[in-house]
Amino acid sequence: MKKTICIALAALMMLSLASCGKKEDAEQGIDYLVLVNKENKLPDDWEDSLETVTVKNSLGDDVEVEKRAYEAYLELKDDLLKKDIHVDLDSARRSVAAQQQIWDDFTVKYGEEYTKTYVAVPGFSEHHTGLALDLYLNIDGVDVYENEDMVVYTDIWAEIKDSLSARGFILRYLEGKEAITGYGYEPWHIRFVGSKEIAEEIMNKGITLEEYLGRLPKTDVAPPKE
Ligand code: DAL
Ligand code: ZN
Repeated sequence: MKKTICIALAALMMLSLASCGKKEDAEQGIDYLVLVNKENKLPDDWEDSLETVTVKNSLGDDVEVEKRAYEAYLELKDDLLKKDIHVDLDSARRSVAAQQQIWDDFTVKYGEEYTKTYVAVPGFSEHHTGLALDLYLNIDGVDVYENEDMVVYTDIWAEIKDSLSARGFILRYLEGKEAITGYGYEPWHIRFVGSKEIAEEIMNKGITLEEYLGRLPKTDVAPPKE
């Protein structure tokens, strides 16, 4: 009898220790340096401690963003307004289904080569994290959000790039680093890394997140259009 009680007590203690550990993991929050790219899919437990907010952009679309990344974005938006640069959020967190829809739409509109250069395979998009934000511009009161229309504003993107690290963002898909990131240059795709110091180190060195983390691709991930 006594032995049964002891075993039951021990099992209870182990159970409570296990659930305590789980709670601590959740309280530690997400890994702001998580690497999601062509070789690394979104971690299975990513959503366990993810907190997001959903906001409407000027086009009337709902955009979901990780909570701290959104606070940092508001500060960045404010910094840019002071330079008379107007940005809004085109897209941030995407489900796997939403990424598939983008893949399909891009394939129809731009063809397979362009799609492979600029769109991640569903499940392998950094947008699943809520930490990647696609910006669009408002130029003289007009929203500019199509990739081919946005790229021409090189001076504006240069100003935006210079403003990112002070708010904990990096430019994720750099010109000339396509063989490392796996994607073509995207001046609008910014990534929150959780710390101004880390963002500054990455941006000042002109490196990718892969290089910062010492996790270069092991396979040929270069996009078709380099
Ligand atoms: N545009 C980036 C690569 C994505 O689709 O996640
Ligand atoms: Zn993006």
